[in-house]
Amino acid sequence: MSKITVKLGLEKEYTVNIGTDILKNTGEIIGAIHSPCRVAFITDFTVGTYYTNTVVDSLKDSGFEVYIFAYPAGESSKNMETYEKILEFLADNQITRSDLIVELGGGVAGDLAGFAAATYMRGIDYVQIPTSLLAMVDSSVGGKTSIDLESGKNLCGAFWQPISVICSVDTLETLDKKFFDDGVAEIIKYGMLGNEKILKILHSCVENHDNLHFALKPFLEEIVEEAINTKISYVKDDVLDTGRRQYLNFGHTIGHAIEHASRYAIPHGHAVAVGMCSMAKAGEALGITEEGTANKIKALVRECGLPTSTIISPKDLYNSALSDKKRRGENINLVFPISFGKCEIKSVKIDELLNIITLGVK
Ligand code: GLY
Repeated sequence: MSKITVKLGLEKEYTVNIGTDILKNTGEIIGAIHSPCRVAFITDFTVGTYYTNTVVDSLKDSGFEVYIFAYPAGESSKNMETYEKILEFLADNQITRSDLIVELGGGVAGDLAGFAAATYMRGIDYVQIPTSLLAMVDSSVGGKTSIDLESGKNLCGAFWQPISVICSVDTLETLDKKFFDDGVAEIIKYGMLGNEKILKILHSCVENHDNLHFALKPFLEEIVEEAINTKISYVKDDVLDTGRRQYLNFGHTIGHAIEHASRYAIPHGHAVAVGMCSMAKAGEALGITEEGTANKIKALVRECGLPTSTIISPKDLYNSALSDKKRRGENINLVFPISFGKCEIKSVKIDELLNIITLGVK
């Protein structure tokens, strides 16, 4: 098992534990940093079926008293209703500020349970056990927690760091291909933000194998470690997302708009993949991006089995993007690739956004 220490600005440091078959050590890992207490274990009905017993037994063996809350899997659960149910569940089971939330699942579980942890009794400790590639390489680290509103994705949330993250890469074996590919989009993003090792692994996997899921298997621990280290380098001096952290939004403005406009029928990573390709295409048209970059990104995205375009109209995407969190009054910060493996943030006027989206997706 490898460990990464996450030290972000003034936040308390925590460890990301990365290994294979380590869920059975959950109680031991958490017991080393937190005394036995009540644990609200939050998961979805789908992934929870596979791993709840292992995690809960391990927690109980280490002296924790566990209360289980499960909800239907999917982005449509990441809303006010489920959030409120979780808060009532915590109160009904007398979870106090010295107790703990442990969440297991993908990005939805982390956002939802993390936001409940951030706000219940003004904040209690929580542990993330990501079981999707996307949550392992991105959302479980950095403390962004949120729920969606009718108007847009992640519009209600808080920055709240976990006290520990446990990534057991064997859990990716029960992950549907569609959701595995979703995580690959975020991995490509880290490559485009300068991690050459990630690009090298991805290129060699797609060149030598038809099945990326299978080909990436021996590299999963390494890729998760690489992605998290890259993420930390962008977040450590900008936890509150006002500067350098915004690079991590590459592909996400159009990506979130696609998710929202499709009513979340198109999953996050698939939407971000289209977003990255579109920003490269728009960047080339505007003279920001080196010629040929869009084709290179598109080729990698396609070879990784992800979409490169959308049928949603630019106008619908624009309307969805208007409530994007990266908007600052009449401006919005967009991340453009400058070349393959290098990006830059540009502040653009909101009334230029429709043109940029049109250049990108048409
Ligand atoms: N998922 C991007 C971030 O944490 O900033």
